[in-house]
Amino acid sequence: MMATVFWDEKGVLLVNFMERGTIIIIVVIITADVYYEMLNKLRHAIQNRRRDHNPSITAFHHSAYQNLPLLFREFLITRPKDINVYNEFGESVLSKACTAGHNDIVLTLIQHGADVNSSNMFTKITPLMTAAYYGHCDIIRILAHNDADAAMKDINSKTALHYAVDGSQNNAVKMLLAEKWSDVNSVDSKGWTPLMRAVLMFTHLEVIKTLVDCDSDLSIKDKNGQDVWQLAHLSNNWKALKILPD
Ligand SMILES: *[C@@H]1O[C@H](CO)[C@@H](O)[C@H](O)[C@H]1NC(C)=O
Repeated sequence: MMATVFWDEKGVLLVNFMERGTIIIIVVIITADVYYEMLNKLRHAIQNRRRDHNPSITAFHHSAYQNLPLLFREFLITRPKDINVYNEFGESVLSKACTAGHNDIVLTLIQHGADVNSSNMFTKITPLMTAAYYGHCDIIRILAHNDADAAMKDINSKTALHYAVDGSQNNAVKMLLAEKWSDVNSVDSKGWTPLMRAVLMFTHLEVIKTLVDCDSDLSIKDKNGQDVWQLAHLSNNWKALKILPD
C-alpha cells in the first residue's frame, strides 16, 4: 500500500492511496500556487506512467485503424491477453484494421490470436463483412486462409456476400463465391438474396452479372412475395432488368 498525502497551511488536501509497494507518506506544506503546479506535474507523471506501462484499449483500436505500428506493438507486448478486447462501440481491433484496410496489422493480429470470427457486440458485423463492404481483397484472402466463417449473419441476417454487394465490390463478390465459400442464395431479414440487394442498391452491373453467372436462384421470393424481376420493376432499375435472364 502506498499513500501520498498533500497538505497546505490549513491542513490535509488530498490523500492518495495506491495498491502495492511500501508505505510512503509525503507531507508537503506549501502555498496554493505551488501546490497547484505540483498537482499538475503529478497528473502528467501518472498519465505518462500509464502510457508507458499500460496502453489503453482506445489507443490500441486507434493504432490498428490509423496504422501506428509503435503504439500497436506496445499493446501487443504489454497486454497480449487483451487481443480480442472490444471498445465501447463493441468493435474488435481486428474489425478496425479490416475497415481501414491495413493488411500487415490484420496479419499480425491473427498471428497473435485475434479471433477471425469475432463479431461486433451490437451489430454482429464480422471482420469479413467489413473487408467485403470496402472491397479489401487482400484482407478477404487473409481471412479466408485463416478459416473465417463466411456463413455468419449480422443482426439483419446479412452475410459477408450481402456486404460485398452493398459496397458494389465485384472482386469481393467473386472471391466470396469462389469454391462456394459463400451461399449465393442466403437471404437477409427482408428475404432478399444478394442478387435482389444488388438490384435494389443499383450496384455496378458487373456485380449483377457475377451473381447471375454464379447460379443465383431467380425463383426466390422475398418476405413480400416479390421476385427479383418485380423488385427491379419496383425500383425502376431498367439496366438490371436488361441483364437478368428472361
Ligand atoms: C471460424 O468459423 C469457421 C466455420 O464455423 C470454423 O471452421 C473456424 O474454426 C472458426 N475459426 C475460429 C478461429 O474460431
